[in-house]
Amino acid sequence: MTDLRINELRVDEADTEASNHSSEEENEDWIKPLIYQSQGAKEFAYCPYSKFRVGAALLAHDGTVFTGCNVENASYNLGLCAERTTIAKAVSEGYRRFKTIAIASDLEDQFISPCGGCRQFMREFGDQWSVYLSKPDGSYVEMTVGELLPVSFGPEDLKKKTMLTTQNGS
Ligand code: THU
Repeated sequence: MTDLRINELRVDEADTEASNHSSEEENEDWIKPLIYQSQGAKEFAYCPYSKFRVGAALLAHDGTVFTGCNVENASYNLGLCAERTTIAKAVSEGYRRFKTIAIASDLEDQFISPCGGCRQFMREFGDQWSVYLSKPDGSYVEMTVGELLPVSFGPEDLKKKTMLTTQNGS
């Protein structure tokens, strides 16, 4: 698999047109298909309430790709984001090591940015894998999960010493 940090673009570079990746650029053959798949997944979005379509494509460590979309519900708070749908699909099929996730929406002038809940959901599976925030024209910025969710709480923290373990000695 190609090194996924190649052609890295930090989000602080994203506001200059010259530094944005465009669909015409070379040397990004590995990311275009993933973004394309996230755009395809967006077509299946079930979002009758928000009318805001989101798709995601998740690349696992062995090259397997999972796709997903947002799935809303008449009981609004039960709706699922595309990222969480996708990660849950992968985990439920035995995958826990991820290289990257691409996210697509219909926002023309803005890279789709994952919500806080999805950032935490991603972080469960590490903070060093990459997230591609895209626009419908295929341009994107890349950030790590750790950059999207700095100073995060994760599964490792549950294993650390607590006041409770100090007091009872266990
Ligand atoms: N949504 C996602 O699926 N992913 C995001 O990163 C942002 C928001 C969905 C949730 C809801 O169905 C709709 O977009 C509007 O918030």
